[in-house]
Amino acid sequence: MNVLAVADATIMSALAADVIAATIVQKPNAVLGLATGATPMGVYAKLIEKQKENGLSFAGVRSYNLDEYVGLHGNDPQSYRRYMMENLFQHVDIKNENIHVPNGDATDIARECRQYDEQIVADGGIDLQLLGIGNNGHIGFNEPSDHFTLPTHYVEIDASTREANARFFSSIDVVPKAALTVGMGAIMAARAVLLIASVGKADIVERALNGPVTPAVPASILQFHPNTTVIYVK
Ligand code: GLP
Repeated sequence: MNVLAVADATIMSALAADVIAATIVQKPNAVLGLATGATPMGVYAKLIEKQKENGLSFAGVRSYNLDEYVGLHGNDPQSYRRYMMENLFQHVDIKNENIHVPNGDATDIARECRQYDEQIVADGGIDLQLLGIGNNGHIGFNEPSDHFTLPTHYVEIDASTREANARFFSSIDVVPKAALTVGMGAIMAARAVLLIASVGKADIVERALNGPVTPAVPASILQFHPNTTVIYVK
């Protein structure tokens, strides 16, 4: 595992964007696993800069987002699909048909999850999986549990995660109670993983990387991933 402890979020974002850009330069049709939350926003801003200033092209890139809130349509301002459109996709030349975000509004949730995994496999698997980390060690919406879940699945969001994410909503009451998330199978099958963590996450990063591997700290499973890079603010 390559672990970089950096001084601030600006450096973290710049380095993470460099890793993603290098992946795209080496493989223009790379499959990227992408994350939402506050942490990747600076990374996406840097990638937009790289497109505008250095001609980095997303024309061949295929993307799979980690998760989506259940019950929110992709056009809902709070949906992760909208977040991705606003923070990255509508500013770069990625093709619409190559964008994938789980459909939290699907009528058949089990089918949606199964097809999402099948599509990832059909596209050759994920070349680079970008991850943030929750205060409780969650990745995607793989919340602390007594077991790791492999496939994309429906999950009830932890009370502490709903509280943390309430800052993006008008009140905690309207934060969805459930989500669809890519499971540990697709994450661990990614050829490379890039975990980023901003100010205030150093303790949970430390527990995930150096503590026991346990589903109680979901990100700890990355200790078993052969090609993981961690960039966190110390
Ligand atoms: C959210 C997302 C995660 C994200 C995490 C941290 O709930 N489901 O994918 O990594 O929480 O978010 P933030 O970067 O805003 O701290």
